[in-house]
Amino acid sequence: MDRLVIRGGNKLEGSVEVHGAKNAVLPQIAASLLSAEPLELSNVPDLSDVATMVSVMQEFGVAATRLPGRVLRLDAAQARSADAPYDIVRRMRASMLVLGPLVARFGVAKVSLPGGCAIGARPVDLHLKALAALGADVDVTGGYIIAKTPGGRLEGARIVLSSPSVGATETAIMAATLARGETEIINAARDPEVCDLASCLTAMGGRIEGAGTHRIVVSGVDNLHRARHELIADRVEAGTYAIAAAITGGHLELLNAHLEHMATVGAALEQAGVEIWPTDRGLMISRDEPLRAVDIVTEPYPGFPTDLQAQFMALMTLAPGASMLRETVFEGRFMHVSELARLGANITLQGTTAFVRGVEQLHGAEVMATDLRASVGLVLAGLVAEGETVVHRIYHLDRGYEALDKKLVQCGADIRRIAG
Ligand code: UD1
Repeated sequence: MDRLVIRGGNKLEGSVEVHGAKNAVLPQIAASLLSAEPLELSNVPDLSDVATMVSVMQEFGVAATRLPGRVLRLDAAQARSADAPYDIVRRMRASMLVLGPLVARFGVAKVSLPGGCAIGARPVDLHLKALAALGADVDVTGGYIIAKTPGGRLEGARIVLSSPSVGATETAIMAATLARGETEIINAARDPEVCDLASCLTAMGGRIEGAGTHRIVVSGVDNLHRARHELIADRVEAGTYAIAAAITGGHLELLNAHLEHMATVGAALEQAGVEIWPTDRGLMISRDEPLRAVDIVTEPYPGFPTDLQAQFMALMTLAPGASMLRETVFEGRFMHVSELARLGANITLQGTTAFVRGVEQLHGAEVMATDLRASVGLVLAGLVAEGETVVHRIYHLDRGYEALDKKLVQCGADIRRIAG
């Protein structure tokens, strides 16, 4: 298994390109199942999660072709419904997103229950309730979700989500696109990736209104048609590089990044002593002042994203004074705490709140990556730790960060990837 060896102490300078959003591309790959005509996605990032999602599509007979210029062409003309087995869904929970499209287009879907993962239990009840509201018969047996449409087609309905789940909102939108009549989704997730899915489906001929608000209305259509759609930039990747610049006291331009997708993160960074301003090409991040301790609470969008909690905690380990980071989205998302402690951080965990006391200096050590965002938090800490930090099990990073080590090296970091 590859590992990263980082020598801390270099300030990040220059520019870094932010690629297409992982959390936008995964549902849109699944959405290709809704149409018998091809979907071309552009600005597709080169990530192992994308490769996994493409291999899931191939199980269903979708022809996937990569074209020059980061374009992924998906042709589901010959697709059929087939099982999505445990082995795949276990590797990547987002493969659950095929459930809605499969049942909407083919009237039947069989998808393994994802099971637990490193960041907690992560139930799928809201996905299943949404499909049941649309008239699907949903059964969970032998570790599989089996959904069928008794009448051959889903029926528009009012879906009230008890919490604004991103995945359940996406399942509901995709399924409702081909349902008969109108669907109203109440308490929908407002994330930019949900809006981007709605734009993609609209380009395919879907009729969706209200994406980006708590109430989304989908008017079902008989068929979707060929389309091309460009993915939005990855706000979590952008936020991660912003924190990388901040933690090293560097000056970094994030090409393609948009402040409107990360307003809460920008505000927290500014409170922490970081300057941020838009440029013609993206966003400039700069820190010359000492760090300041800031409290954050993770919340559904537009609140502070849980996907940047580990990275922000790495930053706070060096802010003089005390900060408090409360996790309200995934209660188990603190695997990085004990690893950050190995680097000399002073963090106390009480339930779903981490109390951080800033230290003057972190010190290099061997640490273990446990999940995608936790592991990048360790890399950021390694950028400023004295001496050498070795991050093991970095396949987690390759799931969601394209060429992380190369991009950081380009901006002046001292990082080597060691194979095996
Ligand atoms: C998506 C993102 C992930 C991000 C998360 C929260 C993708 C591929 N992944 O994950 O990076 O961290 O949003 O912003 O887009 N829940 C239920 N029942 C359900 C579904 C969810 O109780 O049926 C709970 C979850 O356990 C969690 C909360 O709702 O506590 C939010 O989860 P959700 O928004 O669904 O996250 P994902 O779509 O899995």
